[in-house]
Amino acid sequence: MSYQTVLKQASPMKTTINTFLAHLSSPVTSAIVIDAETLMSSSALVSYGVDPINVIVLNNDEEIIRKAHEAGHSRSVRGFTTQVLEQITDTFDIIYLDYCGTPDGNKTTGVLPKYDMLWAADRLSDQGVFVVTFSRRNHEGFAVERAQNMIPLSLELVNIVYYHETCAMFAMILVKRGFKDTRYIRDTFNSIRMANAERVGNKRKRVEEEPTVEEEPTSKLKKFALILYQHDNSMWVGLVERFNKEKNAKILWVDPRSPYDYGSNKGWYPVGEYISTEATADGQWCYLQDVEKQANFPKVLRIEQFRDFKKWVQQNKEELTSIEDYFM
Ligand SMILES: C[S@@+](CC[C@H](N)C(=O)[O-])C[C@H]1O[C@@H](n2cnc3c(N)ncnc32)[C@H](O)[C@@H]1O
Repeated sequence: MSYQTVLKQASPMKTTINTFLAHLSSPVTSAIVIDAETLMSSSALVSYGVDPINVIVLNNDEEIIRKAHEAGHSRSVRGFTTQVLEQITDTFDIIYLDYCGTPDGNKTTGVLPKYDMLWAADRLSDQGVFVVTFSRRNHEGFAVERAQNMIPLSLELVNIVYYHETCAMFAMILVKRGFKDTRYIRDTFNSIRMANAERVGNKRKRVEEEPTVEEEPTSKLKKFALILYQHDNSMWVGLVERFNKEKNAKILWVDPRSPYDYGSNKGWYPVGEYISTEATADGQWCYLQDVEKQANFPKVLRIEQFRDFKKWVQQNKEELTSIEDYFM
């Protein structure tokens, strides 16, 4: 399984969206979803009683589509959305276009979200829900506005959700214009998101006692390093404030996926091995830059930068701002 897949599998937002869509489904629901090799989206629907035959999985990877067929999603199609969607003429109660890219699409793969969204507007049932996700990278900071401009006139935006996965992302939840109960859709999503965040936050454990000796580093970890730290099957973004000889670090957490910890630096966390690509065990870490290669993240901040950054985190605590917003 690729590193990105591992990160995504553990993403609280993936779980939230999959649970939300499953929650809205019934045994007669028909759905079409971009899924990954873990088949988390289609499995969530099936676990809520949807007939596998009524779930179409889309992916450009043959192996993933083979797995989807094996799981009973026998109408699943291999290919990039913009190329394959036009062959599909059914209507759907759930459409989930879980893109990894930006609203402008990708010239190489031929993916044009604008066309896919027009297809979705045409194929969404009257009581259906359409979720689309995009990266917030590029577009000079206006990815969200660009995506909103692409919403077909027959659809209505119910909710827009910001989150951070391997980069800054957002999701739009849409329904057919004239849909009666948009409030129910938004409330359902929000309550699942909050319950999920609480569950994730509460699970993270800390070493509460402050160790006494503070000396030279025993690993490659540096003071004021921007890191991804593995805990509980997920990598969390943080900034190392201090560390000690016992291999514990005090970390300022800046991961909007965990409102519970965001902006706090309480407790000491065990520092495991440095892993530049794929962390598998609790405590293992890498520099944020190791993963976010195209982003402007420094490996280590200077002291003045650190002070500035910490102030920014404290000031923006209420909004749970993505760290990318500070460095881009
Ligand atoms: C973000 S993952 C899907 C995750 C899944 N929904 C979940 O919750 O676990 C996206 C997967 O679909 C593929 N993909 C992304 N955009 C696509 C597109 N426009 N057409 C076909 N496959 C796409 C990617 O290669 C990747 O395997």
